[in-house]
Amino acid sequence: MMKRLWSEQQSQQDIEQCQELTIGGRLPKHCAIIMDGNGRWAQERSKQRAAGHEEGMESVRDIVKASSQLGVKYLTLYAFSMENWKRPRQEVNVLMLLLERYLRQELQELHENGVRLNAIGKLNALPKRVFNILHEAMEKTKNNEGLVLTLALSYSGRWDVNRAVQLIAHDVRRGKLSPEDITEERFASYLQTSGLPDPDLVIRTSGEMRLSNFLLWETAYSEIYITECMWPEFRREQYFSAMRDYMSRERRFGKTSAQVKTEPSKTVFQKVMDAFNPLS
Ligand code: IPE
Ligand code: IPE
Ligand code: MG
Repeated sequence: MMKRLWSEQQSQQDIEQCQELTIGGRLPKHCAIIMDGNGRWAQERSKQRAAGHEEGMESVRDIVKASSQLGVKYLTLYAFSMENWKRPRQEVNVLMLLLERYLRQELQELHENGVRLNAIGKLNALPKRVFNILHEAMEKTKNNEGLVLTLALSYSGRWDVNRAVQLIAHDVRRGKLSPEDITEERFASYLQTSGLPDPDLVIRTSGEMRLSNFLLWETAYSEIYITECMWPEFRREQYFSAMRDYMSRERRFGKTSAQVKTEPSKTVFQKVMDAFNPLS
């Protein structure tokens, strides 16, 4: 029997919170999260770091579901950085095992709920079993039209920029591109995040005030929200608080506050066009 869809599973309180957050249409279109603090969460409870990673997976489940229910279109989760390969072998193994388990267990439910799975990073560095299930999941969900869930795995922002430069250099050498044509938009189209709008909101848990090599190019004008909460304790309530904080901010993109306040709001036509253009 098919399980009830996420949209049918919400409590009254959830529905009210979602309604409150979606009024005015100022929710972030793309939310990116640096999921940090699993190890400290475990250590504070005299548990193994692995227990923190395991509990962190529950947060992933809740935040994915909440994003879908709320109508956030793009969610990007920093799950494993390229630098994380330097961790003790045993911890890396646990993380890879949990990732594989998450994908195997959740794939059907993600699919039934219209989630399109996507991944960025040096994916061929992942163990074969993880790589295979990841590809299977992306293939299976590629035509879904709900939440676009991007997992950053073996990811490094500098690596992606470097890779883009190499690809561009190849195209210039082959005569496909001339140096004058390398605009910001063209450059971004060579990044693995091409097709995703820039993140509106970046959340980092565990209180650390750094980007740790996450989406370096794409976060130029992202709003940043840092919470002391450790990732295993970051659930929908904390997520909704981050959304409220985001919605209370004024995004000026270099302009003055007075200019932003008097800007005409988008016409219905522009909104419809935006809905068809993921880069808008
Ligand atoms: C985040 O938690 C998970 C990954 C980076 C893979 P950490 O494992 O970094 O937890 P802390 O920062 O050591 O507490
Ligand atoms: C950032 O967390 C990477 C992920 C959340 C996957 P880290 O725990 O690796 O970051 P640093 O080393 O403290 O900057
Ligand atoms: Mg950490």
